[in-house]
Amino acid sequence: MEKIAFFDTKSYDRTYFDELAPKAGLELTYFENRLTARSAVLAEGCGAVCAFVNDELGEETLTALAERGVRAVALRCAGYNNVDLAAAERLGIRVFRVPAYSPSSVAEHALALLLTLTRKTHRAFTRTRERNFSLEGLVGVNLEGRTVGVVGTGRVGLKFAQMVRALGTRVIAFDPEPKWGAGIEYVRLDELIRRADVISLHCPLTPQTYHMLSRSAFHQTRPGVIIINTSRGALIDSEALLDNVKSGKVGAAGLDVYEEEADVFYEDVSSKVMRDDTLNLLLSQPNVLVTSHQAFLTDEALRAIAETTVGSLRGFFDGERVENEVGARDTQTV
Ligand code: NAI
Repeated sequence: MEKIAFFDTKSYDRTYFDELAPKAGLELTYFENRLTARSAVLAEGCGAVCAFVNDELGEETLTALAERGVRAVALRCAGYNNVDLAAAERLGIRVFRVPAYSPSSVAEHALALLLTLTRKTHRAFTRTRERNFSLEGLVGVNLEGRTVGVVGTGRVGLKFAQMVRALGTRVIAFDPEPKWGAGIEYVRLDELIRRADVISLHCPLTPQTYHMLSRSAFHQTRPGVIIINTSRGALIDSEALLDNVKSGKVGAAGLDVYEEEADVFYEDVSSKVMRDDTLNLLLSQPNVLVTSHQAFLTDEALRAIAETTVGSLRGFFDGERVENEVGARDTQTV
């Protein structure tokens, strides 16, 4: 059996990996700790580690892993902005990811955030549970006829575009590699930002996309614009977003990701003092809906993630060519 150290484990990970890994000759040791330079010691004696979105795979961690004999990192997610790929290559550590496990799960979550905000069902839910059946303050808006700007028309963005088009919206998009023939009107990013009633982010986090929605971008948006982000938190300057929510320039924001999410998302911190005032203030607004990086969290996606990850690791240990490998030549990360 090949030994794998599995970091940042949640119960739902075990459900799917426990079913598949033993059949593939993989022995998983589960750790609840996030993978950092300090916790890398837990991988002693393992040929590979399995990591997730908020694990820290910078040079220090990778060096600590290499010193303990780790030769592969299997990311059970699509994004790899948390890995220093150049350092991994130098240290002889191979990196695998799960590029497409269920684009629909992420696109449907983005749509759920959008429809919840436009029809205020999150507020209705808490009210009716308290037997408050008043409709005051619950006036919504129709999406039909509005312009939705999709930033990044890869697997998730394309699905999301199809879904919102079915609601009678006009879709405009920006992508440096447009999918011609998909029936989408491509425009420049600055035009999208100026025209869209809804801006939904579906591009990776890179040095080019870092703070794509910056303070100056918010100056250009339409009054009352709705922002949806299921991609990566640092695509948005959170403080600028908060200021624009407070001023009313941003009509609503649905965030499944947040710039500084690493210390709080996926954890129950309800009995602790939360020091991040930007997040505290965003959470306190009635027109901001935050979910805890859960767009991927469906039965179909979790099964697909486990199947691909187990397949990549088995292939690696068997010396086969593994699809889904990322290297230093891939998108530069921040
Ligand atoms: P993908 O790789 O299929 O598509 C990404 C698209 O973004 C590509 O078409 C690419 O050309 C485009 N792009 C690259 N640079 C850009 C730029 N500067 N401006 C605009 N577009 C740009 O990726 P996929 O599967 O569609 O996922 C999209 C993002 O969703 C991922 O990068 C990941 O960060 C995020 N994600 C979030 C999840 C969650 O649970 N919240 C789960 C899975 C992915």
